Amino acid sequence: MNAYKNIAVRAAERAGNFVAKAFANRDRIIAQSKGPNDFVSNIDKQAEEIIIDAIKYSYPDHAILAEESGQHGESDTVWIIDPIDGTTNFLLGIPHFAISIAVKHKNKTLAAVIYDPIKDETFTASNGSGAQLNNTRIRVSDKKKLDNSVLATGFPFRGNQNLSEYLTYFETIFPLCIDMRRAGSASLDLAYVAAGRLDGFWEFGLSEWDTAAGILIVKEAGGFVGDVKGNPYQEKSKSILAANPGVFKHFMKSVKDL
Ligand code: IPD
Ligand code: CA
Ligand code: CA
Repeated sequence: MNAYKNIAVRAAERAGNFVAKAFANRDRIIAQSKGPNDFVSNIDKQAEEIIIDAIKYSYPDHAILAEESGQHGESDTVWIIDPIDGTTNFLLGIPHFAISIAVKHKNKTLAAVIYDPIKDETFTASNGSGAQLNNTRIRVSDKKKLDNSVLATGFPFRGNQNLSEYLTYFETIFPLCIDMRRAGSASLDLAYVAAGRLDGFWEFGLSEWDTAAGILIVKEAGGFVGDVKGNPYQEKSKSILAANPGVFKHFMKSVKDL
């Protein structure tokens, strides 16, 4: 498992350095639209290739699920890649985005990395071995309730899917906590929950590449992960809630009648 983590870190840092250079040299960035309010750039695609090459070099028989190029090969072991999580920030010149990589074997996540190339922060976990930030152990915060907590969220911005349900939850939860953040990178939101910088994170409509690494890192840091109704989180879940155990339970209690 540590071997998987080491390769994931190497791939993420290699791609991250490439992305950071492009971020500093903005005339190299060419953006395209993928769908309503959804963008990709040549840098997302090239970063993804760098990651895939690094993985294939060590594990040529493993499968890959990558946001921009889809599924490569079939295997019980799958590497799940988001080459830039926070592309809108990246394109706008906002220095808050990350490379996210998880390794799954038969649906169990074994290792994960989320690398923020601007702050040079590497969040990692492997199954059963805790979570780390730059090799130092991290834990979720110890707030017991929503009323002294700060949560992160993401808006359902693609074609307004889930907007009315999202707003019902927002109306219920927002008055109960200190404040809410929408920073624009779901993987970093999860990493920050794991590091105790945020007390919880919730969003509707994410994909596996946004969440796979962050879920393992939060769990290994002592957090709980489910959907916003408290069901166990699954690949096809419509929403995610990740928080420290106290805030997770208080969130559940507050939305049980919605
Ligand atoms: C997006 C970011 C954002 C979240 C979106 C994701 P992308 O990923 O994580 O915070 O709100 O739902 O799709 O498109 O930048 O990889
Ligand atoms: Ca993403
Ligand atoms: Ca992405």
